[in-house]
Amino acid sequence: MVDLILRTVRDDNDFTAFNAALHSVFLQDPQDDEVELYRAFTDFDRMFGFHDGARWASTAGDYGKQVTLPGGAQVPVAAVTAVTVSPAHRRRGLLTQMMRYQLDGIRARGTEALAMLFASETMIYGRFGYGLASQNTVLTGQVRDLGFRQEVDLGDGVVAETDAATLLAHGPAIFDRATADLPGRMARPHPWWDYQIHDNDERRKDSGRVRFALHHEPDGTPSGFAIYRPKSDWTATGPTGTLHIEEVRATNPRAYARIWRFLLEMDLVRSMKYDGAAVDEPLRYLLADQRALQCAVVDGIFVRLVDVARALALRRYAAPVDIVLDVRDEFCPWNTGRYRLQGGLDGAECESTDAPADIAISARDLGAIYLGGISAAQLTAAGLVDELTPGSALRAAVAFGWPVAPAIPDHF
Ligand SMILES: CC(C)(COP(=O)(O)OP(=O)(O)OC[C@H]1O[C@@H](n2cnc3c(N)ncnc32)[C@H](O)[C@@H]1OP(=O)(O)O)[C@@H](O)C(=O)NCCC(=O)NCCS
Repeated sequence: MVDLILRTVRDDNDFTAFNAALHSVFLQDPQDDEVELYRAFTDFDRMFGFHDGARWASTAGDYGKQVTLPGGAQVPVAAVTAVTVSPAHRRRGLLTQMMRYQLDGIRARGTEALAMLFASETMIYGRFGYGLASQNTVLTGQVRDLGFRQEVDLGDGVVAETDAATLLAHGPAIFDRATADLPGRMARPHPWWDYQIHDNDERRKDSGRVRFALHHEPDGTPSGFAIYRPKSDWTATGPTGTLHIEEVRATNPRAYARIWRFLLEMDLVRSMKYDGAAVDEPLRYLLADQRALQCAVVDGIFVRLVDVARALALRRYAAPVDIVLDVRDEFCPWNTGRYRLQGGLDGAECESTDAPADIAISARDLGAIYLGGISAAQLTAAGLVDELTPGSALRAAVAFGWPVAPAIPDHF
């Protein structure tokens, strides 16, 4: 049996081999153009895995990103990605060793107090202290049934198709304003925009080429955009086109509503699909017939607090809170202990304490409630969080909860 060495990616060629290995485990063929896009935002020192001297037996890594927390603070996050173990090496503990190496590394680096990831399978990461913290929805409907409530104000702006260069000129500023307070939103520097709007055969496999629309205010200010892919189709009785919506952002409600009308009234389109919408996507509330928009809830992002005290002090709380948490963390034992959390809408402090605890919670469930999308009260009702002081689960739920559901528009 060949010895496996845990090491980081060394150079460009090594990165190409790393991508070939991880795509193979994902049962995909690496797309050269996509790999070039990754290269632009990948820090090789953060990409690692087990190597047998000839090839990568496993891969993992993270991107240093900025995430928005409840209350609007933007903080560094390790956005975990590229996790694979080859079929020849699976179920021998390689993933466990990589998670150990990565979480120790994040802690030692000290830049990020938390890590986040999307899981291919939801069973994988709970054991490493990742909690499922958000949900996404897949919205589908027949566009002719998706009329708006009468009182919806569409404003006097105009929407028109545009090209990639124009979208790139205005989209980033619109995105930043439109999502400034969205919990879970990640900053999207230039290379990530290139990745977001890229097109190739693989991305077109269910639809046509990617298209863009911009909304302008009457004074000419760009204030909204849509990214979408039409799929043309016909039957004997006429057109049955589908619009695959990838993203809709606007800096004000009128622009948001008007862009949606532009999309939903496109000629020859009969149905729409918006994969990756927030659970509380405002489109749902604009409709006269809310039932006409089907909403399938799917899992969103997993959160892992690497430094519990620091992470809890970074976010804001929806109500004043003064609570002692007894945290259990088997995989990152440095977090195990009691913490006094005091905070509210203006900020928070969190310190180790010997005071008696109000609630006992695992690192995994603390990760789950961290972005405000999962209720501490419901985790208590499920028996996963222990309420030690009567009423504290509800107090924790009100403080940790947030009026806007977390949503993570970017995939990584
Ligand atoms: C998921 C994957 C990385 C696991 O790697 P691995 O080296 O086999 O994992 P380990 O041997 O360290 O397993 C650790 C534990 O997790 C469990 N586990 C691992 N993968 C699991 C899965 N997909 N579903 C359920 N449990 C899983 C193992 O059974 C083991 O449990 P145990 O400690 O009780 O015995 C690997 O199967 C893989 O590459 N899958 C395809 C790509 C993928 O989905 N990657 C994840 C991207 S988010």
